[in-house]
Amino acid sequence: MSRPLLVHTIREVREQAAIGDVALVPTMGALHAGHLALVDRARALADHVIVSIFVNPLQFGAGEDLARYPRSIDADVDALSARGVEVVFAPSAEEMYPTGTPQTRITGGRVAALFEGASRPGHFDGVLTVVAKLLSIVGPDVVLFGQKDAQQLFLVRQMVADLNLRVRVEEVTTVREADGLALSSRNAYLSPEERQAAVALSRALEAAASASDRGVDAALAAAQSVVHGEDRVVLDYLALVDPETFLPVSDGFRGTAIVLVAARVGGTRLIDNDRIVLGG
Ligand code: PAJ
Repeated sequence: MSRPLLVHTIREVREQAAIGDVALVPTMGALHAGHLALVDRARALADHVIVSIFVNPLQFGAGEDLARYPRSIDADVDALSARGVEVVFAPSAEEMYPTGTPQTRITGGRVAALFEGASRPGHFDGVLTVVAKLLSIVGPDVVLFGQKDAQQLFLVRQMVADLNLRVRVEEVTTVREADGLALSSRNAYLSPEERQAAVALSRALEAAASASDRGVDAALAAAQSVVHGEDRVVLDYLALVDPETFLPVSDGFRGTAIVLVAARVGGTRLIDNDRIVLGG
């Protein structure tokens, strides 16, 4: 397997995508083993794999990390070599948004205003708009997303259903470091001390799972005490949602729920989530 073809224009990627069965893996680059798990799964699902690398300005708020978001296109293309990726599509912002900010946007409705959407207003409109554009540009049979960004995945599925988009959405399990920290391009911002402290997020999810037989409030309290035990970690939100609606569950809820956690570790905002079964 050889090095992927790197293209920067919509015209070129459309030419390349006209080859049959295509899987698309949308990314913002700074690729790590989590992204590569999506690529490997894509390879198993389709004959041709296209990876997009685009740090989408539309999904970053004022004062967020757009300017300093890690960019490493050469290393990214290297990492994709020998993984059976045919094409890397890395457009410029001008190629994607020739008029500057597009007038037409996709909005995700009430779920897009919660959790990540509450902390980052407009974030999911930016995500959904770029994902809709990438789907329209590439026209893949299947598109892959990580469970790591559970709310994003929920909203993409909702968009595909609401707009009857002709694509299958596949979810890939979160890839973690040995100590449990979910891989993220933003982990590169952490100092060694912050990196140690960041494990509190995945530990909080484990604590919620251990207390899950005692119900919703007990699971949340267990998770909260783990985060509060770590000085360097400042909690943004901690919640349990119903996977069907992505809305918070109430204390009597039984069955599978998703625990969500978001926190600041130093200047870096991290998120994580996992499924737990509430009951007893
Ligand atoms: P990015 O953060 O680069 O992530 C690209 C994809 O990789 C997403 O589907 C994300 O859920 C997945 N991913 C990230 N970390 C992962 C991990 N540890 N394990 C498994 N999968 C992981 O998410 C985005 O980019 C953007 O919002 C995008 C969808 C590309 C739109 O701009």
